[in-house]
Amino acid sequence: MGLSMRVLITGATGLLGYHLLNATERKGFDVFATYHERKIEGFENVRWIRVDFEDTEKIEDTVKSARPDVIIHSAAFTDVDGCEIERAKAYRINYHATRALASISSELKARMIYISTDYVFDGEMGFYREEDIPNPLNFYGLTKLLGEVSVESLLRERGLIVRVSGLYGYSPTGKKNFGLQALEKMMRKEEVKAFVDQHLSPTYVPFLAERLLRALEMDVNGIIHIAGERMSRYEFALALAEELGIEKNLVVPVSMKNLDLPAKRPRDSSLDSSRAREFGLSMPPQREGMRHFIEYYREKAIRGGV
Ligand SMILES: NC(=O)c1ccc[n+]([C@@H]2O[C@H](COP(=O)([O-])OP(=O)(O)OC[C@H]3O[C@@H](n4cnc5c(N)ncnc54)[C@H](OP(=O)(O)O)[C@@H]3O)[C@@H](O)[C@H]2O)c1
Repeated sequence: MGLSMRVLITGATGLLGYHLLNATERKGFDVFATYHERKIEGFENVRWIRVDFEDTEKIEDTVKSARPDVIIHSAAFTDVDGCEIERAKAYRINYHATRALASISSELKARMIYISTDYVFDGEMGFYREEDIPNPLNFYGLTKLLGEVSVESLLRERGLIVRVSGLYGYSPTGKKNFGLQALEKMMRKEEVKAFVDQHLSPTYVPFLAERLLRALEMDVNGIIHIAGERMSRYEFALALAEELGIEKNLVVPVSMKNLDLPAKRPRDSSLDSSRAREFGLSMPPQREGMRHFIEYYREKAIRGGV
């Protein structure tokens, strides 16, 4: 596939979607992007398509109008507690819509990259490999796993399932992720509470987006984990504070056990990215991501983008 590859990015207004737009723009791909509520400014060459993934019936016409060679399916109902409460909505967006996309993708002979999650695992073990047995603790994880099964069974070698963990980075809509929230609080010299008892593999999104496009060019298929180094949320916040050069005692250790959230969270959902390493697709050291993040954020702040 050459420079004129037609790529459809779903959920392009989300955290990963936005950085995928940046990365595809640099590659000169022919990009179609779905939005749900509002488009984002600044991508002159992108063709925007409005879609509601709750309305599965309309997905086919919408996607077929773009005639993509590749679909990167990043859209999801990502609010983990919201999925626990609004189960029908989570089922439709995360499972039904993914299955519909996989089926259209198969019909068009297009490839599909499906972004999945560390939350398919129960977190009892940590350092999960691709072949470990999923056992989601919450409804979000279950619906994302059903999405995986659809991609695997309908697309086989044309499908790639990429599991990621704890995404962080600048978001154009201001929607908060743990890293962004922590960074903004630290910059205002406010206290940041962080779990000591939840380990994951925080993944810096601009670097992830580049790797996803490389995976596409390399024709990788099956399941792959592309995620950052394992750490607790507390260790993550401490390292970020250090990189920012602020007082580390602004970071306050708290326990996840004491919170009564609607959805259970895995204790250790960290991912082993050995397979990604074999393909040269593993993430750089966490600190490199953090430094890039801080610089990127400061630059956006100067230009009035935050
Ligand atoms: N964030 C994490 O820490 C994390 C961890 C592991 C895996 N993942 C996976 O990574 C992917 C990207 O996550 P993210 O953090 O970038 O997500 P995000 O920022 O929450 O963005 C989600 C995107 O999906 C779109 N969307 C939601 N409901 C929709 C609907 N009914 N119809 C059409 N579009 C809809 C949103 O559009 P609107 O905003 O307009 O609704 C938005 O563009 C997801 O598949 C997620 O499951 C994320």
